Amino acid sequence: MNTPAGQGFAARLIRWHKRHGRHDLPWQNTRDPYRVWLSEIMLQQTQVATVVPYYHRFLERFPTMAALAAAPVEEVMALWSGLGYYARARNLHACAQAVMRVHGGSFPRDPDVIAGLPGIGRSTANSIATFCFGASAPIMDGNVKRVLCRAFGIEGFPGSGAVEKRLWSLAEDLMPRRDGGTYNQAQMDLGATVCTRAKPRCEACPLAADCVARASGRTDELPERKPRATIPQREATLLVLRHGQRVLLETRPPAGIWGGLLSLPELPAKADPSEWVAQRFACQVIAVSPAPTLDHSFSHFRLRISPLLVEVKPGHLATEPGLAWWPVDKLQDAGLPAPVRRLLEALQASGSKPLDSRKR
Ligand code: ADE
Repeated sequence: MNTPAGQGFAARLIRWHKRHGRHDLPWQNTRDPYRVWLSEIMLQQTQVATVVPYYHRFLERFPTMAALAAAPVEEVMALWSGLGYYARARNLHACAQAVMRVHGGSFPRDPDVIAGLPGIGRSTANSIATFCFGASAPIMDGNVKRVLCRAFGIEGFPGSGAVEKRLWSLAEDLMPRRDGGTYNQAQMDLGATVCTRAKPRCEACPLAADCVARASGRTDELPERKPRATIPQREATLLVLRHGQRVLLETRPPAGIWGGLLSLPELPAKADPSEWVAQRFACQVIAVSPAPTLDHSFSHFRLRISPLLVEVKPGHLATEPGLAWWPVDKLQDAGLPAPVRRLLEALQASGSKPLDSRKR
């Protein structure tokens, strides 16, 4: 790898691991694929501290692949209960049976063959092949993704297909031919103990000198978080009814946006403005004209407000609880939602006829 971060990447990690890595986890210091495989499945989406007691109990009850394969699946599930992600336990049992039946009881050595077993993906297969059989094959879990994204300044959400593909390709390029197990364990350990999500200890990191995220002050931003789902857009037509020097305000229903606040009346979807206004407010409509739209963001959606200016004929005015014909020059005293206030201020500033309180 001929970027600065890539220079001696594996060598630095392997050297760091000798002194600072974890060496006494219960599934280390063995090359028994049954034990390594069991630990790797338990460690998927689960913290080391949670896994340890389950791992010991499991091995006590099922000390070998043959014992696990021969057990009723219900018993496997019962021993797994509390670890979560129960498909893992069902697949574990199915995998043990496949190893006994298809592979004569000995775990396959080729990473591609291992990855064909139930519940084993590419990364777990490569872990097992490097830890047990000395293969040279990279892994890709959350810790490794964080280390790579920071060290190489990789942008985009690492769970997305395109970024993940790039990470795998980078990991293949960085993979050393020897010491694959130590190197893979080093990346996991660095991610878990130094290159942590919050407050990474860069001063203790063997990659710090060439880390792109550190150099550009972006350890907080890399890896990028999952993008939020696209925010839906809603539309509302608000009516600016003007009569003399007053504008009609209405208290919003208690539920929904701006519940209980004074606001401009909202035209129901698909209603004809003139007809609806005439009926609802018992007045005669002289003119209706649109005003510029205004966008407002709520936490879960965006609202596009289309204001309609409505001139009504002086005469009988609807008065009922919840309706207020508010003096245009006193609008600052009304408890209006911020975007409605902005909308009215913009109309006043533009000298819109129905809202211009200046004497003509
Ligand atoms: N997570 C997945 N595999 C692991 C391992 N071998 N050691 C520590 N955490 C892990």
